[in-house]
Amino acid sequence: MDIIHSAAALRERLQREPDNVFVPTMGNLHEGHIELMRVAKPRAACTVVSIFVNRLQFGPKEDFERYPRTLEADAASLEKVGVNVVFAPDEREIYPEAQTFVVEPSDLQHILEGAHRPGHFRGVATVVLKLFNLVMPHSAIFGKKDYQQYIVLRDMVRQFALPIEIIPAETVRAEDGLALSSRNAYLSEPARREAPRLYQVLRKARAALDGGARDFQRIELEAMSALAGHGWKPDYVAVRRQADLQPPGADDRALVVLAAARIDSTRLIDNVEVNLGR
Ligand code: PAJ
Repeated sequence: MDIIHSAAALRERLQREPDNVFVPTMGNLHEGHIELMRVAKPRAACTVVSIFVNRLQFGPKEDFERYPRTLEADAASLEKVGVNVVFAPDEREIYPEAQTFVVEPSDLQHILEGAHRPGHFRGVATVVLKLFNLVMPHSAIFGKKDYQQYIVLRDMVRQFALPIEIIPAETVRAEDGLALSSRNAYLSEPARREAPRLYQVLRKARAALDGGARDFQRIELEAMSALAGHGWKPDYVAVRRQADLQPPGADDRALVVLAAARIDSTRLIDNVEVNLGR
């Protein structure tokens, strides 16, 4: 496994590798990330992983400075799972000058996560486009854990006709159902015990939809008050269409319920897909 820090060295290394699959990350890797590598591995001769904490996608009050940077441990787990190339640039390598050209995603960037994190998806799309241009993969893997991110990037690739296949991977969870996330490390012990409730209320919403409920607003409000009743501060629980994250009509079958809520001062997100039968 090669660990490469500069864009020039990356290009040179990848000249020999036309068959690349790419997994972008911000490091501090857990089993959820590693699962993406397992999805990637059989799809190409060369699996490339980037580790870069992207300042552009963090808001001024977010955790950019204290985001954990654990390159050594990350490299060890990537080596074990058979990754071929790790690209771990520093900030000057990715942003040698102020990034004045940016990717402006559609109106999707202003709803759900975007409503609570202004500029977030612009920062994500901009760095991912740049990483795509450096790595030039034929496929890239993204976790459904960050469902809206996956949809934004899928749409970006389609609209700019990038020759890259975007492949979604399922969310990996702890035994008690909590979706794995680097931010789980911020949870106090009691908050960690409470944290699986987020997935529980999403499953309850899914069960209601599966059972024929169509009052989406009621489902959302019930989920939010279940969270609030246990000390959470929910930002949203929303029943949406998988295709475009817009509110569903009565006939829509492919749905996703997305949620974001704060427990203590840690903000967690999660979602469940709901595929209704005919
Ligand atoms: P990061 O949060 O490090 O996540 C990297 C990838 O891992 C994303 O595709 C994310 O959806 C996926 N992931 C995280 N937790 C997961 C879990 N429990 N199960 C499955 N997949 C999981 O997402 C980013 O970094 C950044 O925004 C990035 C795309 C790298 C751009 O900076």
